[in-house]
Amino acid sequence: MKKLKLAVLVSGSGTNLQTLINAQQANELPIEIVGVISNREDAYAIERAKNANINVAVLSHVTMPDNTVKRMAIKTFEKHALDQLNEWQADLVVLAGFMRVLSGDFINACPAPIINIHPSLLPKFKGLDTHARAIEAGEEEHGCSVHIVTAELDSGQILTQAVLPVANDDTAETLQQRVHQLEYQILPFTIAMIAKGVFATDKAEYLDVQQGEVVAECLPKLPWKLQIG
Ligand code: GRF
Repeated sequence: MKKLKLAVLVSGSGTNLQTLINAQQANELPIEIVGVISNREDAYAIERAKNANINVAVLSHVTMPDNTVKRMAIKTFEKHALDQLNEWQADLVVLAGFMRVLSGDFINACPAPIINIHPSLLPKFKGLDTHARAIEAGEEEHGCSVHIVTAELDSGQILTQAVLPVANDDTAETLQQRVHQLEYQILPFTIAMIAKGVFATDKAEYLDVQQGEVVAECLPKLPWKLQIG
């Protein structure tokens, strides 16, 4: 099977990136990570990519405490990122803990569809602090979603979700840890579905896909909600 070329955008620890690296190295998924873009030079994800001999572009927009790196304007970041994605010829762009909102112009110009992993059962809890907000709202279930990225934050077509029950004694930290474990399964699962052509791989089809549509009529409607474990 032809390998899906992934570009992964990160800002932090990169444990989801590591899951994809492990899957690639173990030949568990038909993927090739062609490059990683970080918008922070202190992201540990950079080390993970380097350790796996994956191309890394650090396009930092964060001023470091010692003032060594100047803030990069969003337009400049997006221009460099687009150049890089074109050079790498990525088939799919994966936002894995990428903490910057991308503009509509970037998304339209991007040579590949973009997916994001978000730690909530969208459309609930868009944005930050999702675990604390889920507990505060008294949610009985929480989880994570993989969705198509559009110009509106955390609002594109949801492809898949993984769900778990919120325990009475859960804190934001324990819930985050448990949701993270789900992320490490739902993200590879979703990428496998894309690589195998179960979800549309053509960018135009992705962007046109309506709520509840998948490639084949006989398949369950989106989003696919998985109870893992
Ligand atoms: C994950 O919780 C992901 O859902 C969110 O950012 C976090 C990134 O974690 N978008 P990591 O960098 O992959 O460890």
